[in-house]
Amino acid sequence: MTLALEIEGDNLRQVAIDPDGRYGYVASMKNRGFATTRNNIDQGWVVGQRLTRVTLDGSESYATLSLDTRGQAAADAHGAAISPDGRILAVSCGGTHEVMLFRTGPRKLPWRFEGSRDLIPVELLNNDGRYRRVATGGRPTELAFAPDGKTLYAANYLGDSVQVIDAEEATLARTIALGGPSEPSLARRGEALFHDATKSFNQWYSCNTCHSDGHTNGLDFDTLNDGRQDLTSLHLRSRKKVPTLRRVALTRPWTWHGWQTSLEDSVIESFTKSMQGPPRTPAMSRRSSPSSRPSTSRATPTARPTEVSRPPRSGASPCSARPRPPATPATAAPSSPTARSISRASKSPTTPIAAIIPPHSGASTTRTPTSTTAAARPSRTP
Ligand code: HEC
Repeated sequence: MTLALEIEGDNLRQVAIDPDGRYGYVASMKNRGFATTRNNIDQGWVVGQRLTRVTLDGSESYATLSLDTRGQAAADAHGAAISPDGRILAVSCGGTHEVMLFRTGPRKLPWRFEGSRDLIPVELLNNDGRYRRVATGGRPTELAFAPDGKTLYAANYLGDSVQVIDAEEATLARTIALGGPSEPSLARRGEALFHDATKSFNQWYSCNTCHSDGHTNGLDFDTLNDGRQDLTSLHLRSRKKVPTLRRVALTRPWTWHGWQTSLEDSVIESFTKSMQGPPRTPAMSRRSSPSSRPSTSRATPTARPTEVSRPPRSGASPCSARPRPPATPATAAPSSPTARSISRASKSPTTPIAAIIPPHSGASTTRTPTSTTAAARPSRTP
């Protein structure tokens, strides 16, 4: 018999079944759809990592645990395992190079039904032993428990190793090398960068989150390397589908607009704008070819949306993985400047607008920071 169980989320990875055969667990991420500003990223409004539980007979709806903490998020949740006694759940996060351990005991885990929170439940941050993080380095992927219920094995893709974790003590006990090269090749170093979420703002995601396994996760994002982002409630206007990176060196020009004629610049912009990592350095600029780079590609938003005091509720009602526009349309959407109407040298004009936040929220939960658009679009290259 086949039963399709509906959950929210994308990039579904390892599935673990509990010893009684009652629940299945899967590590995944959720696309929230907002522009990749630092403010949005840190609220969990761009992407977030989840552990999702389903009842295998379909008798209950799915439940989630959000894995991200503000300031130190989780990225690329991949492996899932449950101990034979059902007490410990493990999730590996390849992008943040760690394994998270959740323990039930007298106190249950705070699952959220039919939806998910933006961030990890605050009660798990009290150090009561229910939630711990074990640094592994590399890129931990699939997980498996030994029959003793406390020894956890993690396959580490970038470490070329199998790691042994003491899940009771939450410590890395051993790393068993599998005989990889002592000096990583250039391609391997590139892979390490590609999977490294610490290159993004507060380690929320890696290149691999969107360009999954070097391909595409098939979703839309409002990244900034086309020089504009949409902070209005109509934020859908500026979203782009993630292109595949397979054989990308052969598919110039790059980005959907086709204005990016340097692949190297495209990659650097991905680090600085999609990932909101550290700014471009002079060394990076020297390496790329100035003639192929539109000068506006360096324009960064001059103003950030102000902090909002309360995040939107994302889990109150069953929600699809795609954000929905709120019921009330924006009252003062900015008129979008045409591509050529803004001089490259001029500062990005900023138009104050009412940015109504979020998708999944019920009508009353949104707070409206006054935001500005970063409206300077790159001109086409000659
Ligand atoms: C939040 C999702 C996201 C992340 C993270 C991300 N990208 Fe992208 N990437 C996109 C989207 C969306 C586009 C299309 C942008 C456009 O057309 O303006 C894109 C475009 C590209 C392109 C141009 C491809 C083509 O065929 O035109 C390259 C190259 C690229 N990304 C590399 C990277 C690298 C390297 C990283 C990590 C440093 C990265 N991306 C991180 C979403 C993402």
